Amino acid sequence: MDRAAFRLILWGCFLISVCSSPVTRTQNVDVYSFHINSTVTSRYATTTIRSRVANKLNESQEILFEVKIPKNAFISKFRMIIEGTSYDGVVKEKAEAQQQYTQAVSRGQSAGLIKSVGRTLEEFKTSVTVAALSKVTFELTYEELLKRRLGKYELLINAQPMQTVTDFKIEVHIHEKTGISFLEVKGDLSTDDLTNAIKTARADKDAWVTFYPTRDQQTKCKTCGENGLNGDLLITYDVERQNPNGEMTVSNGYFFHSFAPSDVSRIPKNVVFIIDRSGSMHGKKMEQTRLALLKILSDLGENDHFGLITFDSRVDLWKRELLKATQANLEDAKSFVKKIADRGATDINAAVLEGVNMITRHPREGTTSILILLTDGDPTSGETNTEKITGNVKEAIGSKFPLYCLGFGYDVNFDFLTKMSLENNGVARRIYEDSDADLQLQGFYDEVAVPLLTDIQLNYIGVSNLTQTSFNLYFNGSEIVVSGQITDNSVESVTT
Ligand SMILES: *[C@@H]1O[C@H](CO)[C@@H](O)[C@H](O)[C@H]1NC(C)=O
Ligand SMILES: *[C@@H]1O[C@H](CO)[C@@H](O)[C@H](O)[C@H]1NC(C)=O
Ligand SMILES: *[C@@H]1O[C@H](CO)[C@@H](O)[C@H](O)[C@H]1NC(C)=O
Ligand SMILES: *[C@@H]1O[C@H](CO)[C@@H](O)[C@H](O)[C@H]1NC(C)=O
Repeated sequence: MDRAAFRLILWGCFLISVCSSPVTRTQNVDVYSFHINSTVTSRYATTTIRSRVANKLNESQEILFEVKIPKNAFISKFRMIIEGTSYDGVVKEKAEAQQQYTQAVSRGQSAGLIKSVGRTLEEFKTSVTVAALSKVTFELTYEELLKRRLGKYELLINAQPMQTVTDFKIEVHIHEKTGISFLEVKGDLSTDDLTNAIKTARADKDAWVTFYPTRDQQTKCKTCGENGLNGDLLITYDVERQNPNGEMTVSNGYFFHSFAPSDVSRIPKNVVFIIDRSGSMHGKKMEQTRLALLKILSDLGENDHFGLITFDSRVDLWKRELLKATQANLEDAKSFVKKIADRGATDINAAVLEGVNMITRHPREGTTSILILLTDGDPTSGETNTEKITGNVKEAIGSKFPLYCLGFGYDVNFDFLTKMSLENNGVARRIYEDSDADLQLQGFYDEVAVPLLTDIQLNYIGVSNLTQTSFNLYFNGSEIVVSGQITDNSVESVTT
């Protein structure tokens, strides 16, 4: 569960008094400088947020530092500088973190806690007591490998200094050695009122984005108010790809190989959608699912074959076999989809096994298969032991094709779905219960809609400690990435 995913930063020797009174007395706190500096090199982003704050009171007070960082990022460094002395934080993980946080607070020490907020960000929060009329600098560095999705990389930067700031700067530098093919700045900070504060510059292999809003702009823009700016800059880009074997980057004894061909022909796919129609899908969720399915059906390639399974405690098939995505079959499938109605409990085990059976019964030469499960709840009918379900599904699929699990809403056992999809070469994705849930479902389908390569094995000579080198499927718009250590000075890559 996202909510349980806590990480913690802890200062062992740093004593303060943690009081329960509210810490944000912003009128007595001056954030006089707020800088975000992000450097991306070969998709690897390192971002530092530096906030300088003055205590304007003539007595000591607690000062809060609260920022939002992308969920996939990890914090590599955190420090506070007070009166010329620097205090470094130690990054801890998850469950241990929550416990240590509680202990640290009860001992009266300063601690920072991370919790999930929304879909893409998590919040890091800490506070420290600062002496009368003194200053503190907070400096947080996080790192992330940007993942290619639907033909682009996204760098998300959130800025919310909680007040207007005289010296406010966001600076981004992207360096990609094969060249940058396009760059776009979006996000809710990229509005009309603020466009003249955003500057982009491009050279062949480099791009720079700067955002210097004036104090005036920080109060007058659409997403800001009394408390200054609050929003995101979303920088999207892609790189040039001239070499069909991908690009190799070597530095400090490590290599990084990225591979994303797009000029191969698509492989016809067999796709089975397994749709939960249990009682909990009632209302909007069911409606959005129907909407997304109708759109997805329209996007199927004419050489694709597809099947539809709906389930509660009973499993129903649209047709016993996979059918070709002809106009007539699609029309028929759409009328079936329009009639899907919620009822009953959730038998995930029987439904997924039926999907596997439909795919494996009639193998088709030169095609690739994908199973997509959409559910919003725990298994409550038939086999309900998640260990057993995972085991059954793994045995039935036998690594022949991937299973993707889409967990709809918050009542879903996401750990179970994650485990089941990872064991079957797929991924699990959360679908947030919101007005755009149908678009989230379609967006996920778009990522797996065009398989281009199957059974990819990458071989390297003179290297060790490699990351994953074999992949079942490669989809258009994504990217295969392998990295490792170089043991021999000459690196070669062979792809099949
Ligand atoms: C941003 O970070 C890069 C890399 O750490 C550094 O070279 C650069 O000087 C920094 N820029 C600013 C404005 O701090
Ligand atoms: C703080 O300032 C107020 C008025 O500005 C004064 O009355 C008070 O004595 C000062 N307190 C300290 C601790 O200096
Ligand atoms: C893959 O996607 C790109 C756009 O991202 C498109 O130009 C290309 O035609 C696609 N390739 C196939 C085989 O569909
Ligand atoms: C591989 O990694 C391990 C541990 O990270 C390290 O001890 C070992 O030296 C590495 N192998 C090579 C060939 O560098």
